[in-house]
Amino acid sequence: DKEEELTSRPPIVTVMGHVDHGKTSLLDRIRQTAVAEGEAGGITQHIGAYEVKMEKGTITFLDTPGHEAFTTLRARGASVTDVVILVVAADDGVMPQTKEAIDHAKAAGVKLIVAINKIDKENANPDMVRNQLAEHGVISEDWGGDYQFQEISAKANLHIEDLLERVLLEAELLELKGNPTALAEGIVIESKLDKQKGAVATVLINRGTLNKGDNFVVGTEFGKVRAMFNYKGASIKEAGLSVPVEIMGFSGVPQSGDRFVVTPDEKTARQVADLRSD
Ligand code: GTP
Ligand code: NA
Ligand code: MG
Repeated sequence: DKEEELTSRPPIVTVMGHVDHGKTSLLDRIRQTAVAEGEAGGITQHIGAYEVKMEKGTITFLDTPGHEAFTTLRARGASVTDVVILVVAADDGVMPQTKEAIDHAKAAGVKLIVAINKIDKENANPDMVRNQLAEHGVISEDWGGDYQFQEISAKANLHIEDLLERVLLEAELLELKGNPTALAEGIVIESKLDKQKGAVATVLINRGTLNKGDNFVVGTEFGKVRAMFNYKGASIKEAGLSVPVEIMGFSGVPQSGDRFVVTPDEKTARQVADLRSD
C-alpha cells in the first residue's frame, strides 16, 4: 500500500438513550443551532443524517437509523459512529435502554458523552443521574472518571453549544483521520426505491472524495453516481470525508451496512458485483 496522506475528518455522532428522554428533541435543537449559525431560513432534512458546521469544527449527526447505526450496521460489521451522545433525563434517571446504550457503546469501543437532559424541570436531579451512571462504570470527569458530562435542556435550549464543543473536544482526542484523495469508500446507512429517482441510498463517506460520475460497487449491486444530494436536498458534485450524501445511479437497492467502494472503471464495478451475486 502506498503511504496515504491523511487529514482530520469530522466526527460522526449517534444520539442514544431511553424512550422519551429527549433524543429527537436534542437532534431537532442541534439542527436549529446549525441553522442559527449561518443558514438563512429553515432547512428541511432529506436524509437520516446532517452536518453541523461550527466555528471550531464540523460534526456529522446520524438520526434515522438511530439505534440501528449500532444494531443492524454493527451486526453487519460496519462501524459508522465515532461518538455516542447518551441522553439521560434528569428526572427519570438511568433506565433499561440507557444501560443497553452503554453496553452497545462499550462493545463497539465507541466514546460516550453523557447529556443529562431536562434540567429545566423542577424535579430534575442531575446528581442522581451521576450516581446511577457511576454504578455502571460511567463516571464523569469532575468525579475523577473519564467521561464528559453536560447538563442540558433540549426544550429550554440550555447548554446545547457546550455539548457540541465537548463532542469536538472528544473528536480531537480521537484523532480521526482519513485520506481525502483516495478513491472514495463509504457505508450505506439507508436505502430505498424512490418513485422518481429509482434506487437511492444515503452513504457516509469515510475514505476519499466521491465525485459525480464515479463508478462503484456496493454489496451485490454496482452503478455510477448520476446525481448526489446533501442533507438539505441540494445537488452537489463531490462529497468528502464524513459527509452523508444521497446517491442516485444504482443497479438495484443496496442494503444498510453495505460497503460502498469506488472502482477505477465500470467494468470492474460490474465484475465485482457479478462475482458477489454468484
Ligand atoms: P423516543 O424517540 O420515543 O424514544 O423519545 P425521545 O427520546 O426522542 O424523546 P423526545 O424528544 O420525543 O421527548 C420526549 C418528551 O420529553 C417530549 O414531550 C419532549 O417535549 C420532552 N422533552 C424533551 N427534552 C426536554 C427538556 O429538556 N425539558 C423538558 N421539560 N421536556 C423535554
Ligand atoms: Na418520544
Ligand atoms: Mg425520538
